[in-house]
Amino acid sequence: MRFDLLTLFPAIFDGYLTQSLLDKAIQKGLVDIQRHNLREWAQDNPHRQVDDKPFGGGPGMLIQVQTTVEAVEAVEAMDSRPTRRIMLTPQGKRLDQRLAEELAVCPRLLILCGRYEGFDHRVNDILEPDEISIGDFVLNGGEVAAMVMIDSIVRLLPGVLGDEQSSWDDSFSRGNRMLEFPQYTRPRSYRGHDVPEVLLSGDHKRIAAWREEQIRTRTAARRNDLLEP
Ligand code: ADE
Repeated sequence: MRFDLLTLFPAIFDGYLTQSLLDKAIQKGLVDIQRHNLREWAQDNPHRQVDDKPFGGGPGMLIQVQTTVEAVEAVEAMDSRPTRRIMLTPQGKRLDQRLAEELAVCPRLLILCGRYEGFDHRVNDILEPDEISIGDFVLNGGEVAAMVMIDSIVRLLPGVLGDEQSSWDDSFSRGNRMLEFPQYTRPRSYRGHDVPEVLLSGDHKRIAAWREEQIRTRTAARRNDLLEP
């Protein structure tokens, strides 16, 4: 799967892309993440400025339409796979596990990371990206949101997690739309807190029933909205 990130701050991704799971997925050739600096497509001006004041007044600056549209067209031409265009913005559809699963089957995602007050609205009219938000709060830019989104997608790609670490049972996932059951490891007892007896019983049927029950009670107590009506 290929990701093309369009950002004014490509270096924000340096640490993230070179660590642990992401680095391994890249080394294995399962994901290819290309960063592109929007400033390379700055219109002809001495400071390579890509933003300007909003018409009608108001605080902040907007990323300009020509720069963005030309950058997207140039980046799309770098690879023949079709792209799904995404813009990260607090105005977008909320990212959840279902959306991550949907995006994980795309061969290529092009991700627009906004800064300042965002993009000139004609970027949306012309490029028609899917607008995605990672939650009802405002970040300084789309870069951190892009990392969150990529992280949730990459772990779903076949071969990224080992079998022993399957994402199938994760909270909210296809195998379990509710919260996960609690887990324990050694020691069996610590400061008077014992591992539930059933988990030591070796009785797989009882263990499965206990886990099922934990999923239900936990979800009801913490996230009642996830239970089917
Ligand atoms: N950019 C700024 N805030 C954001 C959010 N909550 N989600 C996605 N992109 C953003």
